[in-house]
Amino acid sequence: HTHHAPEPDAAPIVVASNRGPVSYRRGEDGSLLAGRGGGGLVSGLSAIGQDAGAVWVCAALGDTDREAARLGGRRLPEADTGGHRVRMLDIDPATFAAAYNGVANSVLWFVHHMLWQTPLEPVFDGAFRAQWEAYEAYNTAFADAIAEEAAEGASVLVQDYHLVLVPGLLRARRPDLRIGHFSHTPWAPPDYYRLLPDDVAGQVLRGILGGDRAGFLTRRWAEAFAASCEVVLPGAEVTREDGVATSVTFEGRTTRLGVHGLGADAEFLRERAHRPDVEERLAALRRQIGPGRRTIVRVDRTELSKNIVRGLLAYRRLLEDHPHWQGEVVHIAFAYPSRQDLAVYRSYMAEVGRVAHEINTTFGTADWTPVALQMEDDFPRSLAAYRLADVALVNPIRDGMNLVAKEVPVVSDHGCALVLSREAGAAAELGEDALMVNPFDVADTARALNAALLMDPAERLERTKRLAAAATALPPARWFVDQLRAL
Ligand code: G6P
Repeated sequence: HTHHAPEPDAAPIVVASNRGPVSYRRGEDGSLLAGRGGGGLVSGLSAIGQDAGAVWVCAALGDTDREAARLGGRRLPEADTGGHRVRMLDIDPATFAAAYNGVANSVLWFVHHMLWQTPLEPVFDGAFRAQWEAYEAYNTAFADAIAEEAAEGASVLVQDYHLVLVPGLLRARRPDLRIGHFSHTPWAPPDYYRLLPDDVAGQVLRGILGGDRAGFLTRRWAEAFAASCEVVLPGAEVTREDGVATSVTFEGRTTRLGVHGLGADAEFLRERAHRPDVEERLAALRRQIGPGRRTIVRVDRTELSKNIVRGLLAYRRLLEDHPHWQGEVVHIAFAYPSRQDLAVYRSYMAEVGRVAHEINTTFGTADWTPVALQMEDDFPRSLAAYRLADVALVNPIRDGMNLVAKEVPVVSDHGCALVLSREAGAAAELGEDALMVNPFDVADTARALNAALLMDPAERLERTKRLAAAATALPPARWFVDQLRAL
């Protein structure tokens, strides 16, 4: 018999996400070293005012995290977390792996980014059923912890596809709370969303509708969510004002839909991008590229949805169709390791390496390497590449927002042309001044790269300024506060 009563030091605001603001690794002397968590979600949430009194509930992601979580007790030492109050959940490793790798990253991520090759995948069999049970257990562990951390009447902001069942589970435990869920991914169109087993498709929607608000990065994803509710949940009613979905009512409760387009943190980025470690890397990159050459830059997790291979193919096409660029342009491609427990991510990473190598052996000369591929994560080096880029290539198959597209114009030294996929959420805000492409159309992307390289420098600078203004319209701190107010 569990009571879900708040602890005496419970908080007025609770944030919950799978990946937290800190992750641990082991130092050479065997001690635990705290580092910063990665990804768009964490960059957005890190701006949460520590003085807001929020508690951040997250999962231990590996053995070192688990050890730190056990040592820390209910909350981690604030010294490790940059002042955040963090509760890191030590979830049984097999349960965590099945929930995170099996359901969240192999099924929910895949459905929203439309990544399946449907003649063969997905296959929902007994193995999936076992993983789904683990996903339920993992969501239950979060709901239990939040119920302890949230003070009477507190606001709870639940993040992303890892935790879609939490709003419903939490409402059952603590009807006094205000609960919001926010999706950092796209939402699949209903016909594609229905690839999920019917009961799972329903449970995911019911879970989110257990909250008072459901937030999305763009109108397009909010509309797809509303449409999925109408198609999957019998009796769900969507309220529309001037054709725009504003809420979903199901089984007597109404959940309001919100669109909050997370922007770049200009203040943080501009300061960070001019520190000595970035200057050093900028100088090193300049030496590597060679004088007078142009650069096409991309920075991504090596993520299936980021479309890195087609980006390389477009660059190859550019060198073939416009041979005068040979020797004149370098494609700086930073593709950092991500989700390496999944075989399909490991082979995608290998494919990126293979295609880059093939371009280099086909076109490279004694003093020119066409693709400068780096696969070791290095944030200051990413910022250095943002600063010097002549062209930024952001061509995801589908993307909730894409913060790289917003960060580059903010730190660019001399203006940068942005080649942007129309399937990125950021396209809704940056479309006017970016060169938009269909991410599947490699020839079209090559044409856009050429146009970007040829763009008049004055025009490029003007566009970059407007892009930076649009990219910073809703900085992370305001993005967060807006949601709290709405809740
Ligand atoms: C995306 C997701 C985040 C996730 C990030 C990094 O941005 O929306 O929830 O944290 O990718 O992925 P990872 O699996 O490494 O946490």
